[in-house]
Amino acid sequence: MTNDVLKAIHYRRTVNQNSFTDQDISKEDLLTILEAANAAPTHKRTQPWRFVVFQKDGLTRLGAELSRIYKTITPAEKYSEATEVNMGKKATTANVAIAIVVNYTGDLPEWEELAATSCAVQNLWLAAHSIGIGGYWATPGMINHLGEFLGLEPNQKCVGLFYLGHHESEPREPVRSSIEEKVRWEQ
Ligand SMILES: Cc1cc2nc3c(=O)[nH]c(=O)nc-3n(C[C@H](O)[C@H](O)[C@H](O)COP(=O)(O)O)c2cc1C
Repeated sequence: MTNDVLKAIHYRRTVNQNSFTDQDISKEDLLTILEAANAAPTHKRTQPWRFVVFQKDGLTRLGAELSRIYKTITPAEKYSEATEVNMGKKATTANVAIAIVVNYTGDLPEWEELAATSCAVQNLWLAAHSIGIGGYWATPGMINHLGEFLGLEPNQKCVGLFYLGHHESEPREPVRSSIEEKVRWEQ
């Protein structure tokens, strides 16, 4: 790996609640991570990414809401109390959760706004990794029911929760099939 950017891209990993420690993520680190997200590319500079940052009691409220939604939307035959509890725990055992929101402007095809937001999330993920903070993008079905809780506008959609924490996980190589299977060279 020849430089720090390539190293970060290669070694960024999904780090989940099992590896998180209790150490608080500082406001300074959170701003570093959010500024990196804000540097993402965007067609027509619509900058469609929006974030709602949950910490402390906010995580408890988020966890309770995820559990409540799970209970509400899950058919009785599929419902499990353990899953309901676990949904809440995902939030309360992270140090920070960031709701990822796309703000659809109508100026571009929706896929472009989602693509730009995804670029922002990758920036966020790489920046966190680069300062020793782990995390991952979680997309449980409940995110489709978070609009009121998050106070979203009709043109906004939550596309995930990014859970973050200082952690104890070891660096791991990416598990990927060869790039050669995904590229056709034309000369
Ligand atoms: C759009 C998107 C949605 C994802 N949703 C989830 C999820 O709901 N739960 C989860 O554990 N991981 C989720 N992930 C993380 C992927 O599982 C993870 O990136 C993949 O296994 C590759 O591992 P790596 O991040 O360590 O390279 C998501 C990743 C992306 C890009």
